[in-house]
Amino acid sequence: MAKTISLVNQKGGVGKTTSSINLAAALGKEGKKTLLIDLDPQGNATTGLGYNNGDFKLDIYDVMVGNCTIKSAIKNTKFKNLSLIPSTINLAGVDVEFVKNMLEDNTFRQNEQLRKAISEIKENYDYIIIDCQPSLGITTMNALVASDSVIIPVQCEFFALEGITQLLNSIIMVQSNMNPDLRIEGVLLTMLDGRTNIGLEVIEEVRKYFKNKVFNTIIPRLVRLVEAPSHGKPISDYDPTSRATLAYQNLAKEVISRNGQ
Ligand SMILES: Nc1ncnc2c1ncn2[C@@H]1O[C@H](COP(=O)(O)OP(=O)(O)OP(=O)(O)O)[C@@H](O)[C@H]1O
Ligand SMILES: [Mg+2]
Repeated sequence: MAKTISLVNQKGGVGKTTSSINLAAALGKEGKKTLLIDLDPQGNATTGLGYNNGDFKLDIYDVMVGNCTIKSAIKNTKFKNLSLIPSTINLAGVDVEFVKNMLEDNTFRQNEQLRKAISEIKENYDYIIIDCQPSLGITTMNALVASDSVIIPVQCEFFALEGITQLLNSIIMVQSNMNPDLRIEGVLLTMLDGRTNIGLEVIEEVRKYFKNKVFNTIIPRLVRLVEAPSHGKPISDYDPTSRATLAYQNLAKEVISRNGQ
C-alpha cells in the first residue's frame, strides 16, 4: 500500500518541483516502486523528466475530471522504479469543470476527486509523490485530501517562512474536515548557499519553529540542479556524483526510515 506524500508550499519557486522529481527518483533508486504525480498546470515535473505534450495523450486533468482511469494516464519512465502522471496547462481548467459538476450533481465533492482516483492504484506502489502548484486552491486541496503526509520545502532565503501560517491553517482545516490522518512528513530546507550567513540564520529559525520535523538533509544550492531538468533527467541520472544526488539520496533514506521501512 503506497504512502502518498505531497510537496506543498503556496510560495512560488521554493524547490517543490526539483524536490519532487529528485526525491521520487531517489526513492526509485532505493528500490521503492514510486509514482510521481505532476499536479501543477505549469507541468515542470513532466518536462523535467523529459516528457513533452506530444509524448502522452492523457494527463492528470483527464484523471481528475473522470475522462479516463488513473491507470491509463500513467507513464513508465526509463528511470528505475519511477512512473509519472504528466500534467499540462489543461489542469488550469479543472475548477471550471468542477463547478459544472457541482451544479449538475449536489453530491459531487470537488476536493475528493484525486483521492478517489489514487485509491485505485495505491496497492501498486510504495510511494506516490505529488508535486503541487504554488497555490492553496482546488488542486492543492485535492492533494492534501489524497495524501498521508506533506513535505514542506522551505527555501534558505529571506522571508523563508512567509505564508507558512496560512499553509499550516489549510493543513489543519483538511485534518479537521476531510482527512484526519494527514501528517506533516517533514520540512525540507532547500537551496542553501553555504557562502552566505542568511542561510544559516534561516536554518536556525526553521528548526526553532518546526523542531524535529525538519529533515536533517539540507539541499544545497547547485547549478547542476538547474541544468538537470533541461536534459529531462533527475539529478541522479544527469550527474550521479553531484552533491545534489547525494543530498536527495539521503532525503529518500530519511523518508524511508521515518516510515519504518
Ligand atoms: N537546490 C537548488 N539549487 C539551485 N537551484 C535550484 C535548487 N532547487 C531549485 N532550484 C531552481 O529554482 C527554481 C525554482 O525551483 P522549483 O521549480 O523546484 O520550485 P517550485 O517550488 O516547484 O516552483 P513553483 O512554485 O513555480 O512550482 C528553478 O529554476 C530551479 O531550477
Ligand atoms: Mg513547481
